[in-house]
Amino acid sequence: MVLLVTTAAELRNWRTTKPSQRLAFVPTMGALHEGHIRLVERAREIADAVVVSIFVNPTQFGQGEDFERYPRTLENDLALLDDLADVVYAPSVDDVYPPDAPPPVESAGPAGAGFEGAARPGHFDGMLTVVNRLFDIVNPDVAVFGQKDAQQVHLVRRLAIERGGPEIDVVTTVREDDGLARSSRNRFLSSQERAAASAVPETVRTVAAHINTGVSAALAAGRAVLAAEPLARLEYLELVSPADFTPVDDTFHGEATLVVAARFGTTRLLDTESITVPENQQAKGPQPDE
Ligand code: PAF
Repeated sequence: MVLLVTTAAELRNWRTTKPSQRLAFVPTMGALHEGHIRLVERAREIADAVVVSIFVNPTQFGQGEDFERYPRTLENDLALLDDLADVVYAPSVDDVYPPDAPPPVESAGPAGAGFEGAARPGHFDGMLTVVNRLFDIVNPDVAVFGQKDAQQVHLVRRLAIERGGPEIDVVTTVREDDGLARSSRNRFLSSQERAAASAVPETVRTVAAHINTGVSAALAAGRAVLAAEPLARLEYLELVSPADFTPVDDTFHGEATLVVAARFGTTRLLDTESITVPENQQAKGPQPDE
């Protein structure tokens, strides 16, 4: 049975009872779905003990964002984690950000300025600040993150290198039958928007299928998919270098990360995929028999 703790002190006490166990940590904001469960299952596979945090972090929500309406489903989350996690840490805001000793604010810097960072100013500073603080409290050997939030993963990897740990383990995106990435925000889609949202994974598949025609041609093919869906508003679609998260162009070859964000009504959906850009194929355009 999972142990629920609500303070850093309780968590540290629990940790002292397991000194030699390899500890995996899954930070979440709750509203758990199949995608989170996959992260926790992965944590179980690679460690002796598993801590999951459930904390809707106010500092990573901007003005007018959905902090208030972010789903809070603690009872259901605990039931889902019962056989999977050893401890759930579900703290108050004051436990994470003690008013008398607030944790240092992390800066995401240039790698956090584009894409999600541009759409949500301050988001990544808040995300890194809470992740750094949670790493301090939980003190895990390894932390598990979902691939879907590719820019977050990039920044968290950098944070972990700067801090000297933990290891970061990344789990591939869990998808619905039509390919839509699982997300706590999918529940905000109307049924029409939900049907239209399959254009996001279709865009990802289209870019991957056209990558032999070069980076810009493949991205243009992907943009056309979303442009054809009246309920979708594309925010960005780019291939970025995994090294620094900046967009690549037709001179690039190797492993790139496709990132896409599109809005359906008031809900923003993200997706990502790792795509290999082949050598000597850049900018050649569609071939006569294609
Ligand atoms: O990905 C999330 O759910 C959040 O950004 C995280 C990592 C739990 C930090 O609040």
